[in-house]
Amino acid sequence: MIHGPNLNLLGEREPAVYGTGTLAQLDERIALLAVELALAVDCRQYNAEGAIIDALHTARGVYDAVILNPGAYAHYSYAIADAVSSIGLPVIEAHLSNIAGREPFRRVSVTAAACVGTVSGFGVSSYLLALRAAREILIK
Ligand code: DQA
Repeated sequence: MIHGPNLNLLGEREPAVYGTGTLAQLDERIALLAVELALAVDCRQYNAEGAIIDALHTARGVYDAVILNPGAYAHYSYAIADAVSSIGLPVIEAHLSNIAGREPFRRVSVTAAACVGTVSGFGVSSYLLALRAAREILIK
């Protein structure tokens, strides 16, 4: 689970858009569902584009799938899109907010095209649904 830039500020960052829960609380919800689904999940947060790319590269051979919220990088990072395309792992994009219904610059995700699918607009549940989707992919 890779949380991108500014998601470390969840809870205090634009709560009307992203909710009042913290990143630690979000990771706890993810960890609880992972136990229920019998999955092992590691949650990481990076603000830097290069750190996200490095994390995607090092996921090879360690993890079976990646859930990625690229934050604003979703809207313009061809480097992250290329990393997603390069690693040969299923990557599911997750967004707390419904990016399709927000400002025009947020309506396009260049990283989503490289992912197997996207869950957007369900708050914390976007991540939980993405985790369930990852499990479905992995058990096939
Ligand atoms: C976000 C949506 C992005 O547009 C924004 O830059 C974020 C959070 C989301 O989870 O809704 O940082 O990825």
